[in-house]
Amino acid sequence: LQHFLTIKKLKNDQVEELIKRAEYFKAGGAVPEYAQPIYAVNMFFENSTRTHCSFEMAERKLGLQTIPFDPVASSVKKGETLYDTLLALNSIGVNLAVIRHSQNEYYKELIDLDETQKLNMGIVNAGDGSGQHPSQCLLDMMTIHEQFGHFKGLKIAIIGDLTNSRVARSDMRLLRQLGAKLYFSGPTCWYSSEFTEFGSYGKVDDLLPQMDVVILLRVQHERHKQEIGFSPTEYHTEYGLTRKRYTHMKKNAIIMHPGPINRGVELASELVESSRSRFAKQMQNGVFMRMAMIEAVINGRGLGGKQ
Ligand code: CP
Repeated sequence: LQHFLTIKKLKNDQVEELIKRAEYFKAGGAVPEYAQPIYAVNMFFENSTRTHCSFEMAERKLGLQTIPFDPVASSVKKGETLYDTLLALNSIGVNLAVIRHSQNEYYKELIDLDETQKLNMGIVNAGDGSGQHPSQCLLDMMTIHEQFGHFKGLKIAIIGDLTNSRVARSDMRLLRQLGAKLYFSGPTCWYSSEFTEFGSYGKVDDLLPQMDVVILLRVQHERHKQEIGFSPTEYHTEYGLTRKRYTHMKKNAIIMHPGPINRGVELASELVESSRSRFAKQMQNGVFMRMAMIEAVINGRGLGGKQ
């Protein structure tokens, strides 16, 4: 891969290969030795804890040199465009940029270049607006695969703030492609025609007892333009994973959440580290999946050089 921007064009065998490679890294497999230094920059224009630190950890484990970049202290604040910022970084020798940005498909202006433009670096999408979150999606696939060993026929519910969720948009697409059966729940105002193609809507209490995997989404208050019409307690009672609902889940069912969690809203606080929860496992797996993703771009661009 020249870039890692979306999961939309990934074939099932590529997904399986990435999961296998991430599992190899997780099991302590040796990392490749590159003949020349590879320089990476992590550019997070939206807040992040796990994706940012996880990419940085992945880069360090792969032996990459990470160049610090702080959007607030950068010349972006003087009005420099994203393209020109990358041109500067590329000119000083940066090979890979991991970018999170509030603009959907921000990467198009960085890869659809005309012949006058000279940008020559790999772009890894760490989340674009409400578009895609490929690394979260792939670490989710790894976590589900780790639990069940397959995807075909698994019943999976995605519950919550669907409209604003790049995680939902990425996960639903790849899960359907891999053969899972999808369901959605949460406030009906967040379930639009965009989702009907991927799965049907059901009430939380009807769905939960049948699901193998429950993916809870954060209520993204910072993206809502108007009041959402219910308090955190009302949301929890109506749509959240309460302690009572937890007891109705299937014996081997698991709970996932991309984080950060609104404790007591999407799920009861004491369920965050419960036996069914894979929240910490997702974050742990994220490092290894991001290693596999970065390695795929390094190989795709021939950056490692010959030994
Ligand atoms: N899941 C996720 O993207 O978390 P952060 O916003 O903390 O990176």
